[in-house]
Amino acid sequence: MNAWQSDDTRPIPGVFQNVVEQPVPNRGEVLIQVHAAGVTPSELQWYPTTHTNVGTNRRHAIPGHEFSGVVVAMGDGVDLKIGQEVFGMNDWYAEGATAEFCCTVPSAVAQKPARLTHVEAASIPIAALTAWQGLFDRARLQPGERVLIHGGSGAVGVIAVQLARWRGAQVITTASARNREFLLQLGASQVIDYRTEQFEDFSRGVDVVFDTVGGSMLSRSWNVLGPAGRLVTIAADGESTPDERTKQAFFIVEPNQHQLLEITGLLDSGHLRPIVDAVVPFDQAGAAYVGQNMPRRGHGRIVVAVIPED
Ligand SMILES: NC(=O)c1ccc[n+]([C@@H]2O[C@H](COP(=O)([O-])OP(=O)(O)OC[C@H]3O[C@@H](n4cnc5c(N)ncnc54)[C@H](OP(=O)(O)O)[C@@H]3O)[C@@H](O)[C@H]2O)c1
Repeated sequence: MNAWQSDDTRPIPGVFQNVVEQPVPNRGEVLIQVHAAGVTPSELQWYPTTHTNVGTNRRHAIPGHEFSGVVVAMGDGVDLKIGQEVFGMNDWYAEGATAEFCCTVPSAVAQKPARLTHVEAASIPIAALTAWQGLFDRARLQPGERVLIHGGSGAVGVIAVQLARWRGAQVITTASARNREFLLQLGASQVIDYRTEQFEDFSRGVDVVFDTVGGSMLSRSWNVLGPAGRLVTIAADGESTPDERTKQAFFIVEPNQHQLLEITGLLDSGHLRPIVDAVVPFDQAGAAYVGQNMPRRGHGRIVVAVIPED
């Protein structure tokens, strides 16, 4: 099958297109024909891209661990139907979905939301599960609380803003000025331009900070928390920090079917909408990973259309 793989170069990895063996589902696994896959460029630098789950070197990993597609085969013990349309994310140590096929386990997928295209559905799993696990599982965001979301226009940010709003929180977010109107329409009550404004001037005493940016945006954020304030960060520098407080605040998203089903409900009811930044044909997926110029809306997720949509 055709696939894109990490070229493992350092410090900045790229990707190359290759023909690799089509995976065969083992017992308890399902084979998906990928229609669309989400792009998380920073994934190429993450530990599971370069290491196996037992710590040995990993070479030429296939990136893109969220997808929408169709069930085409399964191992014993799997209760899905051939032809069923599903979306989901798979384990970071497994081969990803920037390929014609990918293998996963049934508990990592759910029925594709009927009103979404495959491209739209592929933009959802990682962002929505990350936002859900950060805002609700870790920060325990409550209705009426104030949350500061750093990077509200990013792939994770656009979903975090919507989920926090749906939960009944008041959302303050940082983004570029060009995204201000868009984020106000999405549900933010205040948008702070991080290039010209100091978020500290507008967000003292917040209940929760949800950080997708890291660096000084993260380190400065401890000071704006109220007395019972909670901070979570997903930014990559949280993984290797020596700072104990930041280490505790950092987490990595995990597949969760129960949450994916709740998210599907919100998509079906229109409480949550997918935000696709750009759609890239399969042959040009490499451009999306190396940040090459391409026509973009400037907010949300870049998605690879493995099978072109009509
Ligand atoms: N730990 C996990 O489980 C997990 C899961 C998913 C992603 N991640 C990580 O989370 C981070 C964000 O991912 P993403 O996919 O959402 O990224 P993304 O789509 O590239 O978005 C990043 C956004 O950050 C904004 N931004 C840049 N500098 C900023 C600053 N100083 N202050 C506020 N906003 C700023 C940009 O907004 P403008 O365009 O408006 O300037 C951009 O939209 C990445 O580091 C990724 O690796 C981690």
